[in-house]
Amino acid sequence: MKITLSTLQKQHESNEKIVALTCYDAIFASLLENSGIDVLLVGDSMGNVLHGKNTTLSVTLNNMIYHTHCVSNGSSKALIMADMPFGTAQISPEQTFKNAAKLIAAGAHMVKIEGGHIMAETISFLTQRGIPVCSHIGFTPQSIYQLGGYKVQGTDETKAEQIRQDAKILENAGASILLMEMVPAAIARTITQSIHIPTIGIGAGIDCSGQVLVLHDILGIYQGKKNKFVKNFMIEATSIQDAINNYVSAVKNKQFPAKEHEF
Ligand code: KIV
Repeated sequence: MKITLSTLQKQHESNEKIVALTCYDAIFASLLENSGIDVLLVGDSMGNVLHGKNTTLSVTLNNMIYHTHCVSNGSSKALIMADMPFGTAQISPEQTFKNAAKLIAAGAHMVKIEGGHIMAETISFLTQRGIPVCSHIGFTPQSIYQLGGYKVQGTDETKAEQIRQDAKILENAGASILLMEMVPAAIARTITQSIHIPTIGIGAGIDCSGQVLVLHDILGIYQGKKNKFVKNFMIEATSIQDAINNYVSAVKNKQFPAKEHEF
């Protein structure tokens, strides 16, 4: 059965965990779907894991279009979410729509945009014109220089309150999914309980409606910084497919993330 936004909304409402994983090509798209991954995220983390950069900042719209095509060619079931890379969503809602439309034409079913309340107008503009949006808050890798490095967000009460408010504002603006990266589990829990759309966490604790990780991290082949929220599923697996199956069942059975993976 094809996974749509209504499928994900139903999963959220019935407390069935949503499983997402990054994906950048056709072979992995079909492999991931066969393991039961609900959402394939064509992430701008390709800057790190495919291009060998330390940040996502050099990823272009053309990179994203190319890899979205590849993923779409190998996929028939999962929902495909494509990242809007740095510089393609910040200028104006109109420009953002034009860029997002290219990702949708390449096969994405929705786009992901980093940023809190400041992006609300853009999200309304896109969603009112037929492009679903996942809002990405907490640690937003495209703002790494502004944030001063890879840091957990919302660690003091003022910043935590800003994240909680952003979540509500983005839901009201029309976002269909909220992705939270590197926020304390308690904040992610409160947000998940206080909004109606599904939340997907990465370093945001067990109580999000679903989880996402970077493919190369779960396969233990990324050579860069190892984040606390990552688990190498290859360690106990006999094959790549087995590792992905184990990731899917660990998320569905609420065994991942464990306490050691949260902030
Ligand atoms: O690009 C990406 O892989 C992401 C995840 C870190 C959520 O945005």
